[in-house]
Amino acid sequence: MTAWLDQVFCEDALEGMARIPDRSIDLILTDPPYNLGKDYGNGSDQQSVEDYLAWTERWIDCALPKLKDNGSLYIFLTWRFAPEIFVMLKRRMTMMNEIIWDRRVPSMGGSTRSFSSVHDTIGFFVKRKDYYFDLDSVRIPYDAETKKARSRSIFVGAKWLEVGYNPKDLWSVSRLHREHAERVDHPTQKPLEIIERMVKASCPPGGVVLDPFMGSGTTALAAKRLGRHFTGFELNPAYCATIAERLSAPAQPATKKRKGVRVDAATEGVDQA
Ligand SMILES: C[S@@+](CC[C@H](N)C(=O)[O-])C[C@H]1O[C@@H](n2cnc3c(N)ncnc32)[C@H](O)[C@@H]1O
Repeated sequence: MTAWLDQVFCEDALEGMARIPDRSIDLILTDPPYNLGKDYGNGSDQQSVEDYLAWTERWIDCALPKLKDNGSLYIFLTWRFAPEIFVMLKRRMTMMNEIIWDRRVPSMGGSTRSFSSVHDTIGFFVKRKDYYFDLDSVRIPYDAETKKARSRSIFVGAKWLEVGYNPKDLWSVSRLHREHAERVDHPTQKPLEIIERMVKASCPPGGVVLDPFMGSGTTALAAKRLGRHFTGFELNPAYCATIAERLSAPAQPATKKRKGVRVDAATEGVDQA
């Protein structure tokens, strides 16, 4: 009955998703090929624009029926196709946020005939107004200095000062460099810190996260570490082996901030009422 749960299948997501029952998924969290010409060993990132957009629409239509009515979807994209794909999704869902992931790329070289692109664009979509969202699980604590500075009587006992602030829609988290302990052999591996924030906010404990394009398995690992179930797909057998290895490694505590990583660069010291 639930043979698809806590499994990543080494197969084409568009075929495999048919086995997942409709309305069984709390969160679709995915980072599909961006069609920027990357080599995932299967041509999925090297399609004509027309084919890529038609394929995107096909997988979206396979995935959305799997979502519960109070479920959500996060999709990683870049500026190249985010406009077209956001329109596809806005025809089917309600868009809640465009989150900018500032990859904190150091200022070295880059484009010479345009501005260097250093961010990913993430769409956050929901099916209905009563979607699950646990803000308290992702609040960012104020540091001691900020708390101390807010000692005037109007701030005393203010709940927001104690519980921390709501993450903004600019997430400044370093991409994974070769030397990061978390890094495995996948060209577009996403940091656990980002994926875990989405899982905590948008999938209830014990719920199910679907990622049709697992890559190195970051979504599955985040779900496992946070006590959620997962399911998903990956075409490349070498990446499937990486996923199996990451999932079978001894459990590590859920993400601590990596050294040198700053979340919400634009919000430090900003008050939340
Ligand atoms: C952008 S990467 C995902 C990276 C992932 N978020 C991570 O942190 O490692 C997209 C992945 O989708 C896989 N893929 C492409 N087409 C697929 C398909 N039809 N079914 C399943 N996986 C596919 C690619 O092989 C690639 O590894």
